[in-house]
Amino acid sequence: MIRTKLAGIGYYVPEKVVTNHDLTKVMDTSDEWIQERTGIKERRYATKHKETTSSLGARAAEIAIERAGISKEDIDFIIFATLSPDYYFPGSGVLLQRELGITKTEIGALDIRNQCSGFIYGLSIADQFIKTGMYKNILLVGAEMHSSGLDFSTRGRNVTVIFGDGAGAAVLQPTEEDKGVLTTKLHSDGTYAEKLAYFNPGAHGGYHFDKMGEEIDFGYSDAEFGEMFLNQHMMDNAQTYPVMEGKFVFKLAVTKFPEVIMEALTEVGKTPSDINMLIPHQANLRIAQFVQRLLKLEDHQVYNNIQKYGNTTAASIPIALCEAWEQGKIKEGDLVCLAAFGSGFTWGSALIRW
Ligand code: ACO
Repeated sequence: MIRTKLAGIGYYVPEKVVTNHDLTKVMDTSDEWIQERTGIKERRYATKHKETTSSLGARAAEIAIERAGISKEDIDFIIFATLSPDYYFPGSGVLLQRELGITKTEIGALDIRNQCSGFIYGLSIADQFIKTGMYKNILLVGAEMHSSGLDFSTRGRNVTVIFGDGAGAAVLQPTEEDKGVLTTKLHSDGTYAEKLAYFNPGAHGGYHFDKMGEEIDFGYSDAEFGEMFLNQHMMDNAQTYPVMEGKFVFKLAVTKFPEVIMEALTEVGKTPSDINMLIPHQANLRIAQFVQRLLKLEDHQVYNNIQKYGNTTAASIPIALCEAWEQGKIKEGDLVCLAAFGSGFTWGSALIRW
């Protein structure tokens, strides 16, 4: 039986550390508020004009490729997950390919937009390609450069303090050994798409907002055709930043995380006590702690690093997975569970025999 193994993993976070105290210099917030609500102490920001989402991804990818013991030319497919791409289009997958210098092989590059669940969606896609024999060395990357698109005034503090920049990567290969991805579970429900979103630039033209009976003035009345995607009114009214109904997200996250973890465990005949390491998407330490309590997991069964990096969305799982592995907290034969919930809403889980 062919399974998909993680042959090499790597992560990269930018050097620049931004503490909660640093944020108090630009907005009305406090270290105490941020730590109490989210657990975050500091995060990393990329270097302006020098780093991009795809370049962060490339640094993580280089480490993963080296650890897999292959060369860049061996990669036969790229999957790139991000919500903060270098360009609106083309996606960051081709930019990563160029940054890695592997354009000669003309391999396919797929961009996926599943926000916090991006890495798990990508892993599931890669798993299918590997199991069917289509590809032998898939490079899966999750990377974010949130710092380029956050509102650094007090107006945006509820969102801005949470997010950080970083990247994680994995090289996925087929194996006939009794290890690798055991199952992946993917879900979505678009009912509440606007509860955690980044509306503009976008082609919605106010459509969804009218349907929801919400009155948000996007300035379309003054806009010419061609300006509906992005116009001055949006810029002037801070409508080009992410929005989040924090309490709503929190409530759904603490329901869906345990549900999707249990779904995967049940399929393979395991229970929470069988998990050696749970790597939850690093949304918020309080969410992870809530899930840990619900599943009755011990501290050594869960790895969190949001304290150091904030929420790095599609990058958070591979960064945490790699850091835990580097620290010797994941060993050969361990049952590793990945789980995520985020904008969409989308959520998912994966069980891996290490
Ligand atoms: N600093 C200081 N005060 C703040 C800040 C801040 N950074 N942000 C908001 N406040 C204030 C608000 O203005 C409000 O003040 P008011 O009572 O005078 O009106 C007060 O704090 C409470 O605001 P709430 O938004 O109600 O705060 P809440 O207790 O819900 O905490 C938080 C906000 C941390 C976002 C919480 O709702 C949460 O954790 N939600 C989960 C969302 C999440 O984790 N998102 C991560 C991204 S999504 C994902 O990855 C799944």
